[in-house]
Amino acid sequence: MASAAFLKNPINALQSHTRIPFGHPKLVPTKFHAILVGNSSLMQPFVAKTLTIKSQNNPSPEFKLEEYRTKKIKLINKALDEAVPLQHPTKLHEAMRYTLLAGGKRLISTLCIASCELVGGDESLAMPTVCAFEMIFTAGMIHDDFPDMDNCDIRRGKPTNHKVYGETTSILACNGLLCLAIEHIATNTENVSLDRVVRAITEVCSAAGAKGSTAGQFADVNSEGQEVSLSELEFIHKHKTGKFVEAALVCGIVLGGGNEVEIERLRKFGKKVGLAYQVWDDILDINGFTEKLGKKVGNDLLRNKATYPKLMGMDESKKFATQLVAQAKEELSYFDSTMAAPLYHLADFIVSRML
Ligand code: IPE
Ligand code: MG
Ligand code: MG
Ligand code: MG
Repeated sequence: MASAAFLKNPINALQSHTRIPFGHPKLVPTKFHAILVGNSSLMQPFVAKTLTIKSQNNPSPEFKLEEYRTKKIKLINKALDEAVPLQHPTKLHEAMRYTLLAGGKRLISTLCIASCELVGGDESLAMPTVCAFEMIFTAGMIHDDFPDMDNCDIRRGKPTNHKVYGETTSILACNGLLCLAIEHIATNTENVSLDRVVRAITEVCSAAGAKGSTAGQFADVNSEGQEVSLSELEFIHKHKTGKFVEAALVCGIVLGGGNEVEIERLRKFGKKVGLAYQVWDDILDINGFTEKLGKKVGNDLLRNKATYPKLMGMDESKKFATQLVAQAKEELSYFDSTMAAPLYHLADFIVSRML
């Protein structure tokens, strides 16, 4: 089935990665070989024209996102270090800590904190849940890199967990992280009512489980080499990552003391930016740089994954992601604009990061 873009302008559509038989290198134009061999610097002449993303006009333009992120990332890393101490059996805990503490943007966690602060909650209320998201997200990434999944050797700028510790220890490290995450919320959350803590736990589990990221990951690996419709792709992206983003925002506002109307607004915001987050991740797989991302670029193409650039083309994918963010921000207009400043700016960051 040819896409509309292909029929209109086959060359452009090819350049936008639409319907390219990536499984057959001989049929791939030279420029795509640059992508397939995974050297992102070779792709620069090809991608240069498409990269300007207009920043939306936000209230509080004076807000300093980088300062905010740096401060929060430092706190998150400290909390994570304390949450997963190195103890017996040492190798297991070393493996749990290895990828968890290897850095990363901590974007989902920062969104959770910003959401808590949006309604006047102190970041400490959300910190155990923030750690839980990082533990679960990291476990998801460790699994994602396994040979039977995306088969990646680099994550967060270091050899992947299974490369260092072996698959058996990596699997068990993930089990440890997943369970500790929930235990950590239950035992370390202070000054939040029990019903809100239970609600946060429910939200986290639902985002990670077979109604959330697990379903998305299942659909993702089964999409490789398949004809996938846009609605199927939307399902994959909304679930494998989108649910984490949505849940982090919902948990933040729940723990911060938000009311039902506020929680619903943030859920809507989360659904939109959650999808934008993964669309952008697809874009980075083509336009990003291994050194900046700390993971191998070009892997979606190599594995013939269903991605937005593949289905929509690169330019349309970027437009789509920025539109989602613009729509998401409409939900923020309900809140005090100064309190919402971090979320406005973080939303923009989602569709400008790492290029
Ligand atoms: C993985 O998606 C999503 C989760 C495990 C939450 P990707 O496979 O696209 O992630 P990267 O590109 O390897 O980071
Ligand atoms: Mg994957
Ligand atoms: Mg992957
Ligand atoms: Mg990806």
